[in-house]
Amino acid sequence: MRKQLKQPPKKLGVLIPGLGAIGTSFIAGVELIKKKYAKPIGSMTQMGTIRLGKRTENRTPLIKDFVPLADINSLVFGGWDIFNETAYEAAKHAKVLTNEHIELVKDELQAIKPMKAVFNRRYVKKLDGPNVKKAGNKYELAQKLMEDIDNFKQENELDSVVMVWCASTEVYIEPQEVHQSLETFEKAMKENHDAISPSMIYAYAALKKGIPFANGAPNLTVDIPAIWELAKKNQVPIAGKDYKTGQTLMKTIISPGLKARLLGINGWFSTNILGNRDGEVLDDPESFKTKEVSKLGVLNYILQPEKNPDLYKDLYHKVRINYYPPRGDNKEGWDNIDIFGWLGYPMQIKIDFLCKDSILAAPIVLDLVLFMDLAQRVGFHGIQEWLSFYFKSPMHLPKLYPEHDLFVQLAKLKNTLRYIMGEDMITHLGLDYYDGQMRPED
Ligand SMILES: NC(=O)c1ccc[n+]([C@@H]2O[C@H](COP(=O)([O-])OP(=O)(O)OC[C@H]3O[C@@H](n4cnc5c(N)ncnc54)[C@H](O)[C@@H]3O)[C@@H](O)[C@H]2O)c1
Repeated sequence: MRKQLKQPPKKLGVLIPGLGAIGTSFIAGVELIKKKYAKPIGSMTQMGTIRLGKRTENRTPLIKDFVPLADINSLVFGGWDIFNETAYEAAKHAKVLTNEHIELVKDELQAIKPMKAVFNRRYVKKLDGPNVKKAGNKYELAQKLMEDIDNFKQENELDSVVMVWCASTEVYIEPQEVHQSLETFEKAMKENHDAISPSMIYAYAALKKGIPFANGAPNLTVDIPAIWELAKKNQVPIAGKDYKTGQTLMKTIISPGLKARLLGINGWFSTNILGNRDGEVLDDPESFKTKEVSKLGVLNYILQPEKNPDLYKDLYHKVRINYYPPRGDNKEGWDNIDIFGWLGYPMQIKIDFLCKDSILAAPIVLDLVLFMDLAQRVGFHGIQEWLSFYFKSPMHLPKLYPEHDLFVQLAKLKNTLRYIMGEDMITHLGLDYYDGQMRPED
């Protein structure tokens, strides 16, 4: 084990901006799991295994038995939202979980009352709510969030806290001059600069308090040099962006397979219908633009058309999201993929994924909470690229390109865990098993 690794906290606080469909499905799910009413399906930290050493050694523990992660029973929740309904009421409104499930953890959910949010309709045009902080400028808003964090820690007697963004997608913002250094960023906050969105204010407050921050939405948020500088200065891990759940999860499973078999693709049309609040927010073209940019990058990075022009240079990739209220959180994602094979003969693949967005996202939130806390204890700081597995638009250093292939991401994640614990990396070379049989002189 690497010597810096500190013991897991007895209690780990989880602070969530945005107690909506994902936030409440995550919290209610953890409380149901704590009470043994349900199993943590989809969570690598709870159900995943990891192979150690050679295949002949037969060592494949559960990840949670291998790495000293905080116990799921130690999690304590708090959060902010622009609506002042408790997590119980919000979970009922979200209509992801059944009333039967929600009632089993009613007391725990009712105890979670959202703190006043940092919010401005300029950044999420389709929403408005009463539970919002007031202050002279954005810097003062950040100070108020820091007071909330201190109070939450004190009231719950916590040493460690992680913050995970589960709030709405903000309008598209390009990186600008004010994002380039901590100094310009702080000045811009004091001047109420337009390029500082609420999610950046939460992230700034978290990092100032030494709290890891993971971004579940496609917002710019922690993907700017000013925040990287703060993360380095305060030695705090950051991760993002945009949970990889439905259609993009499928894309990053299927496209590496097609590429591995050198099958060409000339069209990939993806459309979605969904009717939850997230869908309503994304109905605004400016919020959709943020999501679209996040969703479109995936195929280009996986297929590398510049390196494989005969197969992918003409690929037409289109993504649509349509707000359709009758569906609620039960999204339907259709994909039509036009592919071609031997001698250029065309074929098609159709995918119709009837998924539940928040059910796919909740275990990601859980894993991010536990892995971000681990990263903090092991002394990792700045961008946590090894957590790319969980994101549609993984953050990376400017000199690198993002790794989107789900299987490469998985190998990276597991090798990082092996590295943390001082185990050998697994290369899948395997020639040593055949030693004596493969040498020409034999
Ligand atoms: N569900 C998925 O599969 C998925 C996948 C990737 C990313 N996401 C992103 O995760 C986020 C949450 O999704 P959801 O389905 O839970 O949405 P939701 O609309 O149900 O919940 C978002 C909540 O955030 C609140 N909110 C908005 N701005 C806020 C602010 N500044 N401070 C505090 N609260 C604020 C809203 O009032 C709402 O309750 C969205 O940005 C979404 O795009 C979702």
